[in-house]
Amino acid sequence: MAVLLAIESSCDETAVAIVRGSVGRPAEVLASEVFSQIELHREHGGVVPELASRNHSLRLRGLVEKALNDAGVEIGEIDAFAATTGPGLASSLLIGSTAAKAMACATGRPFLGINHLEGHLLSPFLDRTSVPAHVALIVSGGHTLLLDVEGQGCYRRLGGTRDDAAGEAFDKVGKMLGLAYPGGPEIEMAARTGNPEAYPFPRSMLHDAHLDFSFSGLKTAVLYTLQREGGLGDIHDLAASFQQAVIDILVGKTLRAARLTGRSLVGLSGGVSMNRALREALREACAKAGYDLVTAVSDFCTDNAAMIGFAALLRHLAGGESSLDDDIHPNLPLV
Ligand code: KG4
Ligand code: ZN
Repeated sequence: MAVLLAIESSCDETAVAIVRGSVGRPAEVLASEVFSQIELHREHGGVVPELASRNHSLRLRGLVEKALNDAGVEIGEIDAFAATTGPGLASSLLIGSTAAKAMACATGRPFLGINHLEGHLLSPFLDRTSVPAHVALIVSGGHTLLLDVEGQGCYRRLGGTRDDAAGEAFDKVGKMLGLAYPGGPEIEMAARTGNPEAYPFPRSMLHDAHLDFSFSGLKTAVLYTLQREGGLGDIHDLAASFQQAVIDILVGKTLRAARLTGRSLVGLSGGVSMNRALREALREACAKAGYDLVTAVSDFCTDNAAMIGFAALLRHLAGGESSLDDDIHPNLPLV
């Protein structure tokens, strides 16, 4: 049985988790603390990197102590320390990875540097003994990625966004509509009472044979509509029509990916997977086509350290370890 402490600090969430597991048994999340800095960044309309890193460093020690306390574990009982080392904001990544390295150094235990996207990718399978072959759609604030997954550590890129990430599009359109940051949850709420067919926004690249995405044309279409209507448009209809366009693109491409790869299981992860309309549309489309859909539980959709701890646990149990001299990588690719 191995017990790991993991830190996530790639953007504006400071998170610490303690995860326990052994080969062939599902992992247990003994503690998962998340301090969201959303309120701090809201007045700036987006994440301010220096504010983020300073607050990671202010919060981290307290969160580590709380996680150990909640899990009922002493620091000396931790078998390995993990942290996100990329992709993300350089100054934010440095805080979490340096803290994890320091604890590893002080206790003489190994350190594991984890790719944030692998954390998201594995999050739907946290309660399983292994990671099954599947098609993975990762939709977050910084990334939109389709992958063919053979098993843990065996990933093939099928497609990704050529411009904005899905979450980024939600956040930018939210701003245009005068909604608070982050725009994703605000748009979802506004869309509930809107007509998704009110505005015929473009579904860019939906019918192209490749599996890439583009959301900038959609974002511009919303902007032009707003300019044309001079603020007279119905915000609920605009939000619902925009959200529906994003959903149609994501669902269409994911089903094509499943068809092309022959996989019968789809995994959905990342902050945008909090969106209920997206989950329901993908679930319905998968059921119709005979595929199963697995999503992360809502606590583990947006940034958290449990997913980093789970990715680290699988690697640790397989004998993996990172060097204390390893750097952080703001643009670290997954494949
Ligand atoms: O995975 P995440 O917490 O951070 C990154 O790795 O980027 O994702 C954050 C993104 C933000 O863009 C946010 O607007 C979006 O997830 N998001 C949503 C919803 N909740 C969060 N987008 C659409 N609908 C939601 N309910
Ligand atoms: Zn994320």
